[in-house]
Amino acid sequence: MKPSEVEQTHFEICTSNEEVFKGNLVLINYQNPIRRPIHANQLASLDILPSIKQLSKGMLLEKYCLDQFHSLLKACGGMDQIIAVSGYRTKEDQLQIYKDSLIERGSEYTSKYVALPDHSEHQTGLAIDVGRLKTKIDFIAPSFPDTGIYRSFRRNAAQYGFILRYKREKESITRISHEPWHFRYVGYPHSRIMEENNLCLEEYIDFVELHRYSGEQLIIKEENMTTKIYYVPANGETSTNIPIIKCDSYSVSGTNREGFIVTVISKNLEI
Ligand code: DAL
Ligand code: ZN
Repeated sequence: MKPSEVEQTHFEICTSNEEVFKGNLVLINYQNPIRRPIHANQLASLDILPSIKQLSKGMLLEKYCLDQFHSLLKACGGMDQIIAVSGYRTKEDQLQIYKDSLIERGSEYTSKYVALPDHSEHQTGLAIDVGRLKTKIDFIAPSFPDTGIYRSFRRNAAQYGFILRYKREKESITRISHEPWHFRYVGYPHSRIMEENNLCLEEYIDFVELHRYSGEQLIIKEENMTTKIYYVPANGETSTNIPIIKCDSYSVSGTNREGFIVTVISKNLEI
């Protein structure tokens, strides 16, 4: 077969290694600080969606995360009973919250529920704290019951790309105590895989790292689409050639560790 007759199954994109620090799947925790702050033009104000209740006006979230949060609230019918308590925070915001918490609640509590500046997912614009709408709301630990509309929000979250980030049984990994109010946008179907396999983000990234383009990819078949997920380590001095399987759409996210997670989606047909 001549080279021109060989079916092309993938193409390559050349990506700056700086991109490792960006994307929906970045791991931010006590070991992995934020390296690149989100750009202001990637943030949107909740004010543009007045049906969403906010603890204080002008709250910001990453644009697509906000869109999906809005859809999730509509899907579970929680628009009038759930309040957005805290979204995007700057490093300075997080430092102030940390200092205030130390003074008001002490160091033991603070270390359990407040991340150090540059170690908070809130600085990515991809995390949202939600609360039960009532007159008195605790900013750091809002009440979010596991009943009624709140349970429905939680159960629908993965469908819209969100995970409950800090679960009780994962405390030894995340080093943050159980937070029923803190949801993190990672994108679908990653959220669904994590939920179905009870993997926290740390465990999920370890798991995806075992799946490579040239080896066994992670394949999720659904009625309308097939998704393939694989990990590409950053190599080269400044940039990495990332293979992308031919598909209908794809996205690449950094892990905020040493590589990229590629997600390729093909509709209906096998890829
Ligand atoms: N409450 C979470 C851990 C934060 O401060 O980012
Ligand atoms: Zn939070």
